[in-house]
Amino acid sequence: PLELNPVLLPLNWLLGSWESDEPGEGTFPTIKPFRYTEKLHFSHVGQPVINYMFNAFHAETNKPMHRECGFIRIQPGTNKVAFINAQNTGLVDIEEGELTGQQLKLQSQSLARISFAKEPHVQQISRVLQLRPDGKLEQTVIMATDNQPPSQHLHITYRRSL
Ligand code: HEM
Repeated sequence: PLELNPVLLPLNWLLGSWESDEPGEGTFPTIKPFRYTEKLHFSHVGQPVINYMFNAFHAETNKPMHRECGFIRIQPGTNKVAFINAQNTGLVDIEEGELTGQQLKLQSQSLARISFAKEPHVQQISRVLQLRPDGKLEQTVIMATDNQPPSQHLHITYRRSL
């Protein structure tokens, strides 16, 4: 396999494929709670950059739902991490934050969207991705919209998959 760029060593715990071990929980004050499954894939091509894809599905019908893809960079020699993210809903966002051990905490720094994106518009995203001691990966996403203060939208755990 291609050698990992040493800049990525602090993030090597993310690399590979993951899938939800039980359905994730979707919530928000304005919507009906829902469940979903999700597959994540983190890879590299030798550059100091991780490429990722997050693909979510309806928990019962398996129908494709939300999708995100992008790149993760770490400022060499620091614990500063950036996500460069595109979402199938027409939103693109840059999230930055800190890596502490195997916990990544990110906050949106800028958001942009297509002219005909569905309302309400997202105004802020924060997320935590962490590798737990039991080997599971956990993701929590909080968002704020035009008409809601920051509230949890997603919580899900993943196990490694092939
Ligand atoms: C609703 C944003 C990820 C499923 C929403 C709404 C927003 C939003 C703004 C509308 C809330 C309202 O009406 O007040 C986001 C963002 C995400 C994300 C920014 C990622 C960072 C996901 C994922 C799923 C999902 C992974 C998994 C299937 C839904 C569903 C609804 C919803 C089912 C309610 C129905 C609908 O409005 O389509 N999301 N979402 N979202 N989201 Fe997400």
